[in-house]
Amino acid sequence: MAIRPQHGEVYYPSEEVIARARVKDWEAMYKASIEDPQAFWAKEAEELEWFRHWDQVLDDSNPPFYKWFVGAQTNIVHNALDRHMKTWRRNKVAFYWIGEPGDTRTISYRELYNEVNRFANVLRGLGVKKGDRVTIYMGRVPEIVVAMLATVKIGAIHSVVYGGFSVEALRERILDSESKVVITQDGGWMRGKVVPLKDTVDQAVVQTPSVEKVVVVQRLGPEVKPVNMVPGRDFWYHELMASPLAEGPSPTEVMDAEDPLFILYTSGTTGKPKAILHVHGGYMVGTYTALKYVFDLQDDDVWWCAADPGWITGHSFIVYSPLVLGVTSIMYEGAPNYPTPDRWWQIVETYGVTAFYTAPTAIRGLMRYGEEWVRKHDLSSLRILGSVGEPINPAAWKWYYRVVGGERCPIMDTWWQTETGHFMITPVPTVPLKPGSAFRPFFGQVAEVVDDEGNPVPPNTEGYLILKNPWPAMLRTLYGDPERYVETYWSRFPGRYFTGDSAKIDEDGYFWIIGRVDDVIKVSGYRLGTAEIESALVAHPDVVEAAVIGVPHEIKGNAIHAYVVLRAGLAGTPELEKELIEFVAQQIGKIARPEKIHFVDKLPKTRSGKIMRRLLRAWTLGLPEGDLSTLED
Ligand code: WT7
Repeated sequence: MAIRPQHGEVYYPSEEVIARARVKDWEAMYKASIEDPQAFWAKEAEELEWFRHWDQVLDDSNPPFYKWFVGAQTNIVHNALDRHMKTWRRNKVAFYWIGEPGDTRTISYRELYNEVNRFANVLRGLGVKKGDRVTIYMGRVPEIVVAMLATVKIGAIHSVVYGGFSVEALRERILDSESKVVITQDGGWMRGKVVPLKDTVDQAVVQTPSVEKVVVVQRLGPEVKPVNMVPGRDFWYHELMASPLAEGPSPTEVMDAEDPLFILYTSGTTGKPKAILHVHGGYMVGTYTALKYVFDLQDDDVWWCAADPGWITGHSFIVYSPLVLGVTSIMYEGAPNYPTPDRWWQIVETYGVTAFYTAPTAIRGLMRYGEEWVRKHDLSSLRILGSVGEPINPAAWKWYYRVVGGERCPIMDTWWQTETGHFMITPVPTVPLKPGSAFRPFFGQVAEVVDDEGNPVPPNTEGYLILKNPWPAMLRTLYGDPERYVETYWSRFPGRYFTGDSAKIDEDGYFWIIGRVDDVIKVSGYRLGTAEIESALVAHPDVVEAAVIGVPHEIKGNAIHAYVVLRAGLAGTPELEKELIEFVAQQIGKIARPEKIHFVDKLPKTRSGKIMRRLLRAWTLGLPEGDLSTLED
């Protein structure tokens, strides 16, 4: 039975899209999947290889500590690489890589397999063991994939830290994870400038006792970026790879389905970033299934997820699921508008990209330059588009659909989180789409929008977005902090997963994500905690107190505004504003830079001492102040 929405503007898939798609009847498949989610997931899991079959699909005896594929053994690298060596795919292109200056590389599955095997031996040789943590601080180069897969192949756990994070942010994450080895590169290219990754590592590791070795990939070379190598601690990747350490057989470690795969730090409501933990079995099955059905990738596809491997989007949809699925991917090092605003479209044309996935902020940014830049290129290879990271406003959706997709390509607006591993609210290519709506829950999942008491709200009413079913790729815990895991996700609405987002469901059952309801701000799709930015500000000697809010921004989605109380006697000058903005960039990274600092004498607080951010937002946006009865004075 086809879905026929009755309300709003609706875009239907073409016959061509329907003819090719794996999912012809979304409703029937969804219905079956939620009648028996375990059967749905077990069937998907059977498509992959396991060293030992599971005894039980789901163990829900100790919620919210769910376990999937209990008793099974595998290694995600076995499915991402090893198993392809038995088929024709060994000669298939895994990655077309494009450096920002225009240098290129083509890497087959076989080449990637060989490189990962050698580097796995190197890591073993450096003393990395099963369960050890390895921090990876790199740009978008093929070696980041090698580093991640080699770590996982030997049973160690990676913690990838986005290459735009500062010294302080990197140090904090190395310390928290107690990493033994850090893998980095001399530097990378971004907008024609060198990103000095190794220099940042040098500064970060001076106070990190766990770090024994630093491995450095040479991307730029000494003429472009000389780096300091500390004897006994720092090693060149290419020298290690050419050494006897790399030689010999390189077995893939047999892992339990529930063994840790990676940790990834993300921002939360309070305090320090939290380390989301994902595991081998469930994450492998979930990300594979999601990419397969939602982007419908097949053997003739060229897939481009234009995210950074440093975020979950890159982990799941540049590295793991495309390789498990055996598809050909694009990886591009640099900025979308460098040297000209058509850089991305040029790559799409050159490589015949068929499926393209990016964030609304990038679309809005490129829209600004005008359609001509897109029209210069033949984008007829594209057949499907995707969006992720924040709500996509209908105007950007329609531009993406018309100008980039040539009115042929359905747009998969995928709602998900670092915690969920893959798309949780998402269309598939064959369903009718509404610009700005992420459609409905993915297979196996039931989502609701509820009020404060946890009761579903009527159609078109804003409420909290919750997920009702456990799913294989769900986070297992917060690394080292299981209490915070329970508290953050499972206590607001007991027994349900609380997403931290608000949403509406319309009369047709379509979900419309509104945004975060906690103290998380999405800036250009990046996830930042107000608490982190506030503690960065108060670390400045002139600042006594700070409060941070997100305000709507045309391109970034949200921009950061900070309200700052200075030490007595100090005046808030434009120079100090600039200094504080740079100070935050130094403490966290450029992505956290406030757009505006408001200097105030004091912050509005409730009688119990809580900062009234609502009032700050009203002031900034010129809105009514609302109820002031709880205000301190
Ligand atoms: C938050 C999670 C998951 C990949 C990137 C973000 C927002 C994500 C959408 C979307 C509206 C979205 C939510 C969510 N978000 N995708 N399609 N529509 N909002 O992962 O950094 O963990 O952020 O991003 O607010 O909670 P993340």
